Amino acid sequence: MKNDSNKISAYWDNFHKDIKGYGAFRPDPVLSRYLKLISKGKVLDLGLGEGRNALFFVQNGFEVKGIDISETAIQSCIKRAKEAKLEIDVKLQDIRNIKVPENTYSLIIATMVLQFLNKKERDTIFEKIKKGLIKNGIVFLRVFSLEDPSYKIKLESDKFEMIEPNTFFLKKRNMCIHYFSEKEVKSIFRDFQIINFSEIYSLDLAHGEPHYHGMITYMGKKI
Ligand SMILES: C[S@@+](CC[C@H](N)C(=O)[O-])C[C@H]1O[C@@H](n2cnc3c(N)ncnc32)[C@H](O)[C@@H]1O
Repeated sequence: MKNDSNKISAYWDNFHKDIKGYGAFRPDPVLSRYLKLISKGKVLDLGLGEGRNALFFVQNGFEVKGIDISETAIQSCIKRAKEAKLEIDVKLQDIRNIKVPENTYSLIIATMVLQFLNKKERDTIFEKIKKGLIKNGIVFLRVFSLEDPSYKIKLESDKFEMIEPNTFFLKKRNMCIHYFSEKEVKSIFRDFQIINFSEIYSLDLAHGEPHYHGMITYMGKKI
């Protein structure tokens, strides 16, 4: 992997060593609620982490491929798959460099990962997601929203540089953090049919000290 990918993967390796549970291994409730809408076939999970969503789809008869930049996350996912006797195709890779075959996936998942990319990288991956889905294929995103408390903190501090609208560069982690608006997400997928959209504010107990996040959840269908 590229040098800056190495620094990013080191951050995420530490993050995964700190995961405490509290729902960190349960599939996203929106994905499980709409399981029936997803036609049996291939699933791609971008930044799959320890595989909470990916393994749920393997259990439900889908052929799943997952990509993550963290060796720790990948190894944890493989271990959990072996324990449950599930088959999953996982790859240690930076999603900024992936090739996504066109018209291939019934579902593409990207939860809590795309906010760490800059605008050009996000635009590129959104295009790949759109092209990678089959007709009636589903995209599922969970991203930070402008309501996230850390957005306001960054806005008011001179320690963080806003490099693009609502995107800051985090020097220590060597990565960006972007806060999405409802209008932005809906505009990216303006040619999709919305299945589920919500903005929530919730307590995160999965890692570090308990803290709040503002998040947007989006599920849409390629028509
Ligand atoms: C907050 S975790 C979310 C994990 C999982 N999607 C979930 O919802 O449980 C973010 C994940 O994205 C991965 N990640 C971050 N940037 C990445 C990149 N550029 N390429 C691949 N994976 C990345 C991290 O290693 C980490 O596993």
